Amino acid sequence: MKQDDIQKNENILYAGIDLGTSRSSISASNGTRQWIESYVGWPKDFIAAQVVGKPVLFGAEALQNRLSLDLCRPLEHGVIKEGISRNEEAVKDIIKYLIELAEPAPDQKIFAVVGVPADTLKVNKLAIRKAVTDFVHSLMVVTEPFAVAYGMNLLNNSLVIDIGAGTTDFCIMHGTIPSEDDQKTILTAGDYIDDQLYSYLIEKYPGSRFNKNMVRQFKEQYSFVRDLDEDIRVEIPVAGKPVMHDIKNEIKRACESILPALTETTIEMIARFDPEFQVKIKNNIVLAGGGSLIRGIKEYLQDALKEYGPCNVTCVQDPLFAGSDGAIKLAKDMPVKYWEPL
Ligand SMILES: Nc1ncnc2c1ncn2[C@@H]1O[C@H](COP(=O)(O)OP(=O)(O)O)[C@@H](O)[C@H]1O
Ligand SMILES: [Mg+2]
Repeated sequence: MKQDDIQKNENILYAGIDLGTSRSSISASNGTRQWIESYVGWPKDFIAAQVVGKPVLFGAEALQNRLSLDLCRPLEHGVIKEGISRNEEAVKDIIKYLIELAEPAPDQKIFAVVGVPADTLKVNKLAIRKAVTDFVHSLMVVTEPFAVAYGMNLLNNSLVIDIGAGTTDFCIMHGTIPSEDDQKTILTAGDYIDDQLYSYLIEKYPGSRFNKNMVRQFKEQYSFVRDLDEDIRVEIPVAGKPVMHDIKNEIKRACESILPALTETTIEMIARFDPEFQVKIKNNIVLAGGGSLIRGIKEYLQDALKEYGPCNVTCVQDPLFAGSDGAIKLAKDMPVKYWEPL
């Protein structure tokens, strides 16, 4: 029997929340869909509090005011650092804010499925629970790639690879709720590319002025692996004057820096299965997360795996909401006994 049948008399808002290392999103049963960058900032002192005019800021607004704030990106390395109350507080604030963005009615109960990076689930299920208890009536915590897989109906013989900012998460689906062994997190993802790109650019253009944030924007605009028939030139100030810089090779090298670990982990995860299933899984590989937008990455992985027989790699349609959309689908479908009352 479905959740809806059991609880049809209650006023419930179902919510799917994707708690990402860089972006977090919510999809709710009232039709709202919102996302923020996973930054939280608190004013540094009472002057800062007057300048920003709020006790806590989120996402892009927090970044803009970063000089006045203690800025925190709580899931930066995929896990909430335990005992660091600032991180726990930040997760709590993000959840609260996302739920506010979904605009529940005052008397509505909230049933939330929260997707988190695979290692966060292993290490900090308790911390996540603590973070949401005050705002949610019932909870299920799942890994982000599982939420994506569920949303796309990829329940059997598939592999979802979610290339986020802090982590790349792998999840093999084989017809059951995935266990710990079916999932793996590695730390080469978007932030890693940014670090590489930043150091390549400093090396090539020591006299130019740029920061990590600009570098990330260059990457998001021009990312590619393998070959590309176009020049990549960006404007960067030199001695106060804007100058065009050729960054094509650096973009390529930086984006390609995540490929070896990506390929290796994909092969390793598939190899654990019976050969018959290996063939099926290889034909059902889905890339998700912001990193799936890198031009040529799908083709690269497909070619790299061809050595081991035929395979098919696709990308999700909407990387920003694939996780929260999957989580809300799960929330709506989930039998009562799986919900953890809080
Ligand atoms: N077009 C793009 N090309 C390459 N990387 C991108 C692109 N768009 C976004 N990203 C990167 O994707 C990462 C964010 O992806 P996301 O799935 O939201 O991460 P998370 O789930 O970890 O929060 C960031 O590192 C961001 O810079
Ligand atoms: Mg994500």
